[in-house]
Amino acid sequence: MSRFSDLVSTPAREMAAHFPAPSPRKDSGETQPPLIKLDSNENPFGPSPLAIEAMQSALAGAHLYPDDDCAELRRKLADHHSVLIEQVLVTAGSTEMLALLCQTLLAPGLNAVTSERSFIIYGMAVHAVGARLMQAPMRKHKDEFDLDAIQVAINPDTRIVFLANPNNPTGTMLDAAAVDQFLAKVPGQVVVVLDEAYYHFALQFAALRKLQHSQSLEYVRQGASVIVLRTFSKAHGLAGLRVGYGLGPAELLAYCARMRNTYSVAELAQVAALAALDDRNHITRVVSNNASQAKILTDGLSELGHRVVPTAANFVYCDLGEDASLFAHRLRVEGVSVRPLNAWGAPNCIRVSIGTPEQNQIFLSAIGKIAGI
Ligand SMILES: Cc1ncc(COP(=O)(O)O)c(C=O)c1O
Repeated sequence: MSRFSDLVSTPAREMAAHFPAPSPRKDSGETQPPLIKLDSNENPFGPSPLAIEAMQSALAGAHLYPDDDCAELRRKLADHHSVLIEQVLVTAGSTEMLALLCQTLLAPGLNAVTSERSFIIYGMAVHAVGARLMQAPMRKHKDEFDLDAIQVAINPDTRIVFLANPNNPTGTMLDAAAVDQFLAKVPGQVVVVLDEAYYHFALQFAALRKLQHSQSLEYVRQGASVIVLRTFSKAHGLAGLRVGYGLGPAELLAYCARMRNTYSVAELAQVAALAALDDRNHITRVVSNNASQAKILTDGLSELGHRVVPTAANFVYCDLGEDASLFAHRLRVEGVSVRPLNAWGAPNCIRVSIGTPEQNQIFLSAIGKIAGI
């Protein structure tokens, strides 16, 4: 007999169990090399060196609460993106911004819409406030968003549409024309979240493929009902510090700010983000490694007979044609952690973060070994 199930809130009781990222190997002892972590799309080169330096200088101030307004960082981001400071809200990772949007715009009886096989946190943030997440089907056999199906899923109770661009876990990207056409058809009561966690990588792939990247910031500047999400977790290498931000209508962000946990963004995270924003060298190194290694991983996996979706992010989505959980377990025994996508309704697929050249070679050798090559 459960002691608390009748006492907890309905969303807490009904929310699906969370599947956390696999933890780094703790049982390795001294003889085994550390686990190669290609399961959470982290930056394989670590934090921006400028951010490390800035944090070292700020350590002695850790007894003080941070600036709750994140004023300096907001000002710098506003300049960086040519928007007003009121159009910037800094949060503890962009996932905090997702939660705030749900708390601010949703309630039981209302819903948000996204695609199937998208960022798993959308469902968690929506369900936590007792609302529904409607997941439109993807384009058959293409692992891409079907924007028409997303449009059809919108109803009078819809308040948010989430578009991860590029999408996690499939790595597919919507170009500027597709986003423009979609936004033109969205009803007025709906806020569209353009989640651009992988922006720097996507920009590079768009240039290589001669595609036009979404003009997301233009929508913000025009005051459209759009929130653009960015993060310092990926290209800047600050995932462990939890700092991201939303850009959008000042009035909506002011409501979201009321819902924020006081002091949610640590001072070290703020100073690191300020420094990382200027670290062009680090971003360039990370992004160019990503583009060249994406090709090597894609070719290597394809040569082994696996189907790989062309990526616009810092990971590849790969259909193995066999049970992904089992495969990921065997890879882990070989010292490499990847993400099996059973929980995304893709039981034969894995998502592999693009690592350093050395990490990727180890991964490819490990899957070759599993395949008996
Ligand atoms: C699509 C998408 N949005 C947002 C995030 C969250 O990033 P953050 O670390 O800023 O919370 C991720 C992280 O993996 C992601 O894949």
